[in-house]
This record gives sequence, C-alpha cells and structure tokens, in this order.
Amino acid sequence: MIVVHSKKELDEQLDDWRQHDEHIALVPTMGNLHAGHLSLVSLAREHAERVVVSIFVNPTQFGEAEDFDQYPRTLERDTRRLKTSGADLIFVPDIETMYPFGLKDATTISVPRITENFCGANRPGHFDGVTSVVARLFALVQPDSAIFGQKDYQQQLVIRHMSLDLGLPVSIITGETVREDDGLAMSSRNQYLSEEERAIAPLLYDVISSVGSELQNGRRDFEKIEVESMTKLTEGGFEVDYFSIRRAQNLEIPDRDCDELVVLAAAQLGKARLIDNIIVTI
Ligand code: PAF
Repeated sequence: MIVVHSKKELDEQLDDWRQHDEHIALVPTMGNLHAGHLSLVSLAREHAERVVVSIFVNPTQFGEAEDFDQYPRTLERDTRRLKTSGADLIFVPDIETMYPFGLKDATTISVPRITENFCGANRPGHFDGVTSVVARLFALVQPDSAIFGQKDYQQQLVIRHMSLDLGLPVSIITGETVREDDGLAMSSRNQYLSEEERAIAPLLYDVISSVGSELQNGRRDFEKIEVESMTKLTEGGFEVDYFSIRRAQNLEIPDRDCDELVVLAAAQLGKARLIDNIIVTI
C-alpha cells in the first residue's frame, strides 16, 4: 500500500493500473477511520481490482461554529489500519491540490431541493461543500466506482443525484452502517461523547428501530410517530434536530402506500451531533 500526497504521484500510480485494465474504486473519507470505514474498503474490493482511500478534512463542508479545527487528524493510525484492510493507495491531498484557486475562488457544485431539509437545513452550506469536494475527488481519481456509507443517508442521495445529473461516469455504491454491540452507529464524532453520554447514545438507534417495527406492523400515522419519537429522545437527554419518516428514494413525504421508507434522525448529545437511519421495506 502506498501513501501519496500530490496529483503527480497519484496520476503515476493510476496510469499504471489503468494500463493493466484494472478498475479503481474510491472510498472518500475525512480520516479518523473506524470499522465502518474499513467495511467500505472491503466493499470497494468487491467492485474493483484497486482501492483508493482519500483522506481530506474538507473545510468547505463545516459551518463556522462547527468542529473543523477539532476534527481528529490521525493519519499515522489511519495508515496502519488501512495496511491490513485491502486498500492499495491512500491519497492525502493538501488544500492547494483540492482547491487550486483557493477557497474564495473555488467553484461550488450545488444540488437543489434534496439538500434543503434535514442535515441541509441544520448545516447551511454543508452539502455544497460535500458535493464540491466529492466532484473534485472524482476528477482527480477518476474512479469507476465510489463507496459511501448509509449512515450519511442524505449525503449518499445527494451524491447520486449530482453524479447522475452531471453524467459523471462513476457508479455510486452505498455500504451498510456498522454498529457497536449496543447498536450505536460507528462515527468519528462518537469520541466527543462523555462516558455518561455514551451510555445514553444507543437510544437513538433503539427509537429508530422500534419505529421500523411499528411501520412493518402497519402503522401509518407518520407525523404522530415522529412526534412520539422526538419526545422519547428529548426525555432521554438528546436535543433533537429532526426525526422523520420519508420516502427512501428521494426523502419526499410518503403516502400510506409507499413501500420503501427511511426513518432518519439527527440529534445533539453534548458535543456530538449523532445521525442515524434505517430503511424499512414493506
Ligand atoms: O462522509 C464524509 O466523510 C465526507 O462527507 C466526504 C464524503 C469524505 C466528503 O468530504
């Protein structure tokens, strides 16, 4: 496995693989890797002969009051983990490689509508930052496929939309959420939780899963379920951003007959903003 920082080094390696007709899968990350990321690397291996993992903490997707400065940078540990995970190359670009005209003059890619609610509403500009950096990574790596985690459900829908709309020749693959034994979705931000908050955190998945069972059992009073779930989380110690039942395909409000729903939620617990979701197929 090799670690490259520049576009030149990256191009040299990619050219060599392409000359040998090898497919390339990209796993974009911001580092601080956990088992959830490593499962995306394994999934990438199933789709391509070569796997590139990018590590770049992207400033344009963080709001001013968010945790860009504190976001854990753990390159040495990430490299050790990736060595045994099946990755072939780690791409660690600097800011000039990702934004050659500087942040002020950078081109922004903006997906309308599907970015307006949920994390888009609570984190203005966040998805513009995500699509802009992912499009840049696609342009640099030119992968055949790219892998994103289901935990960031809205993100992977937004990226699918961008790729289809711009005709980008990358197939977007979504990898399942990896959970701790008590159900908490793995996330780099879990490490912001205190011991007491960590004990409370699995309630988010508990509530989402029990809503999943109720939907399977035929309940369809979506708004009432959402209000009840928010109350449970608030009473449990969360500050809820949103708790919603939507069409899995596009996050629109579902009717009673919709057969693929997503239950998605985001809630603040101390310093950590936790997000999670499940898909319910009826
Ligand atoms: O999901 C993430 O870690 C980031 O949003 C991504 C896709 C790597 C873009 O910076």
